Amino acid sequence: MAPAAPDRDNRSVRRRPSPRVRAAVLTAALVVATAALTAACGGGGTDSAARPTTGKGIYLANCATCHGVDGQGGVGPRLAGVAARYPDVDAQIALVTNGLNRMPAFGGRLDPTEIRTVVEYTRTDLRG
Ligand code: HEC
Repeated sequence: MAPAAPDRDNRSVRRRPSPRVRAAVLTAALVVATAALTAACGGGGTDSAARPTTGKGIYLANCATCHGVDGQGGVGPRLAGVAARYPDVDAQIALVTNGLNRMPAFGGRLDPTEIRTVVEYTRTDLRG
């Protein structure tokens, strides 16, 4: 009597789609996804569309890696409560614009409006 196990194995193998069919389905899905993405991005998007404009957005994109998402500090000092150390907002703007030691200068990366926006954000919204 032939053993039953190999038969069962063969049947289950036959029911599964072949690797070739699976590859074709995956490729089709990829093509559709790529087309959808291209369409979504092509509708008038430029680089500026991705550039954050809110204080929080600018902070998360440029400062949070060193100062912490909530201003709790990390590579850079804690920024929550920074307004107490910089009563004059312009002094804080100057520091961010020009940098200090390991604090990078942002004058070449952010425009003055963006710097003011992110500085205001650090003064009012960070609770870390
Ligand atoms: C590469 C890491 C790094 C990034 C990115 C960074 N900082 Fe800093 N920051 C520092 C370091 C280090 C210091 C401390 C400089 C010193 O006193 O020697 C500092 C200091 C500061 C200070 C002074 C804090 C104090 O108590 O004296 C402010 C304000 C500040 N950063 C704001 C910002 C803002 C706003 C951004 C984003 C636009 C930013 N930093 C991005 C590392 C960074």
